[in-house]
Amino acid sequence: MILVFGSLNIDLVAQVPVIPGPGRTVLAPSYQTHFGGKGANQAVAAARIAGAGPVRMAGRVGRDGFGDSAIENLRTNGVDTTFVVGGDEPTGCAFITVDQSGENAITVASGANLTASAGDLPAELFRPDTVLVLQMEVPFAQALAAARRTNTASGTVIWNLAPVPEKMTREMVTEILAVTDYLLVNEHEALDAAMAIGLATVDYEAAAADLAKAGDLTCIVTAGAQGALAVTADGTRLRASALRITPVDTTGAGDTFAGAFAAMLSEKVPLQIALQVGCEAAAQKCLKPGAQTGMPTRGAISSLT
Ligand code: RIB
Repeated sequence: MILVFGSLNIDLVAQVPVIPGPGRTVLAPSYQTHFGGKGANQAVAAARIAGAGPVRMAGRVGRDGFGDSAIENLRTNGVDTTFVVGGDEPTGCAFITVDQSGENAITVASGANLTASAGDLPAELFRPDTVLVLQMEVPFAQALAAARRTNTASGTVIWNLAPVPEKMTREMVTEILAVTDYLLVNEHEALDAAMAIGLATVDYEAAAADLAKAGDLTCIVTAGAQGALAVTADGTRLRASALRITPVDTTGAGDTFAGAFAAMLSEKVPLQIALQVGCEAAAQKCLKPGAQTGMPTRGAISSLT
């Protein structure tokens, strides 16, 4: 069973000629509204790929139209929303600009996501077959509490260290490493995490190896066009290459990898296959605008056919 505990957002997306820097304004012809939030994106990606077993989402939305449609969208995608709770804060909203190369800049107004609570999760969700997927858009202490309950139940914890908080302390990274089985990062997040715990690493591959050893876990780095790298605690390295594509929108590519990877882990496929499926799913996602629109279904993944 896959349990995603994390954020649900509505994404307001504008295509811009260039992503504005501080003090700049750019004009976009229009904007689109998409479903987003790292947690919800990962749940949808997992549900589209998962062969069997439920995908459950837990988190908080506001009692507003955005919240209602975010829940409805998850249900439409086959995600169990029993543990998505309505609260007094507004539903999270992300303001996204996407440039002509598909690169993006995102500002998240967290709203209800900041009230997400591990206390909303009943004990029966924590079992040996639980694959818990976490990110960094809900309160850290609550994500940590959910991870610890998963550890106690002998389940599996995937922690996607994104977005890296402004102030990521040594204690935070140490605690993440202590409870996590699979640490999922991009190149920058790998270096940030290693630096936070005082590891003087020069590149993301060395950072991944150090983090894997420090946490006795598997560290996976998603590196865009360079594919993905997994380093296990004993230093074994596995790689999967990325599909060659011309991206339209990279928003949610990391989330797609995370969800597809979680689906594969819950099916206990070899790590190499899980990496390949994650890379393939993430590349396909980038061919369509919005975080979730391009996420593939299982039948579209050639590594699974
Ligand atoms: O990873 C992409 C997501 O980050 C977007 O959907 C946005 O909501 C932010 O949470």
